[in-house]
Amino acid sequence: MPQVRPAVDDRGPVGKSILGGRAASGERKTRVSASGAPERKVEGRENSHFEGVAFEFIAGELGTPCYVYSSAAIREQYAHLAGALVGIDARLHYSVKANSSVAILAFLRELGAGLDIVSGGELYRALQAGYNGNAIVFSGVGKTQREMEEALRADVLLFNVESEQELHVLDGVAARLGRKAPVALRVNPEVLVDTPHPYTRTGEKGMKFGIPFDEALSVAKVAASLPHLELLGLDMHVGSQISQFAPYEVGLQRLLHLRGEIERETGVTLRYLDIGGGLAVAYDAAERAVDVSQFGKVIGALVGGSGLKIILEPGRFLVGNAGVLLTRVLYRKRSGGKEFIITDAGMTDLLRPSHYNAFHRIEAVRPSGRTTVADVVGPICESGDFLALDRQIDDAQPGDLLAVQSTGAYGFVMSSNYNSRPRPAEVLVDGDRFAVITARESYADLVRNEVPPSWRTSS
Ligand code: LLP
Repeated sequence: MPQVRPAVDDRGPVGKSILGGRAASGERKTRVSASGAPERKVEGRENSHFEGVAFEFIAGELGTPCYVYSSAAIREQYAHLAGALVGIDARLHYSVKANSSVAILAFLRELGAGLDIVSGGELYRALQAGYNGNAIVFSGVGKTQREMEEALRADVLLFNVESEQELHVLDGVAARLGRKAPVALRVNPEVLVDTPHPYTRTGEKGMKFGIPFDEALSVAKVAASLPHLELLGLDMHVGSQISQFAPYEVGLQRLLHLRGEIERETGVTLRYLDIGGGLAVAYDAAERAVDVSQFGKVIGALVGGSGLKIILEPGRFLVGNAGVLLTRVLYRKRSGGKEFIITDAGMTDLLRPSHYNAFHRIEAVRPSGRTTVADVVGPICESGDFLALDRQIDDAQPGDLLAVQSTGAYGFVMSSNYNSRPRPAEVLVDGDRFAVITARESYADLVRNEVPPSWRTSS
């Protein structure tokens, strides 16, 4: 008889977090009271509605899976962070990659944000959302000449350049266009960064991002000498979902020191200091949100009086807790002694649990009052397709609606068509109204760009 493996759960710990001082491995179970309701709510997140619009209503109208965002929650986070920076000559350049829907970008523009982009596609979206180039900084480790040309034509505020080779290429593109490219050097500050997953660290030694710290001065000399570049600033980005200030503090100190050296040795006066994004949000009700007023004080103490214009590139902080993914339970089953809740959303809709072992709270929109411990899994043909493992959760039954919390950042933008699944709709709520800002894809959308080979004559 063939050997049979015992039922195992070897998919590793999920949702390891450093927020709130908790670093336990293994998934934290959402605490629920006897009634099945969560013990306390976290600001900006709701289980049954956003503002005046019920999740059941949206799901009934549009079907599931479906992303829903709250304008009020975005507005609140923006005001919170902007308020923490009062007194500092700073501007928020929202990092488009976190959630790049044109309606979200346009909303942030109305709130006063600039943008941080990393591709020609993001530039296209930014322009669609009504931004001027001077509100845009262009980051990214691998800009193509075409993207550089598009950004130059759009008159972006800064190119955050990540290597000496990139400087030369940009100089050449600017020469062809008869322009001068505004440049900040993205320097790797080579600080220790603690994030829930190694994939979201960027500012440590030996990573692909930025110019190695000990080469930055010589690269700055090259930048200052190239005829079609204007060296205007320095830039860093230490990582994402960071809840400690030390990496920013140490990184900033290093960049400020470097600024002195560059100015002395090149005679150039720098105007901008871009400190990147990365501010954490609380994914679990038990976690503390990052204290941005303290963050403002830390930054202010370091850059106050520097004469530099400070740029921040927050993504997750502004939109992370402003979104939910609505999904319906399709089936329940038991296997290998475990409960499974099978939902109509999976890793193609929300990749973070599967890709980063990320924790997202999952709440029943109409709690049954009973709880169970289950794996919440999607319909994709991959064992790594899950939204939660070994989670204490409402004992949801087929047809019940679940809200996967804190999915406003890096949710829809990382979705895919794997298994030929149309990508979900996106909805923006504002008060008691809501609008579909991205229509659900159709089957026709899936094959829109496909063409039969020319040699195929008959079907
Ligand atoms: N600036 C630069 C240059 C970045 O690379 C990023 C994020 C940001 C700003 C914004 O970082 P935030 O404020 O959102 O932390 N997909 C991952 C996160 C990847 C972040 C990539 N870079 C996740 O789902 O956790």
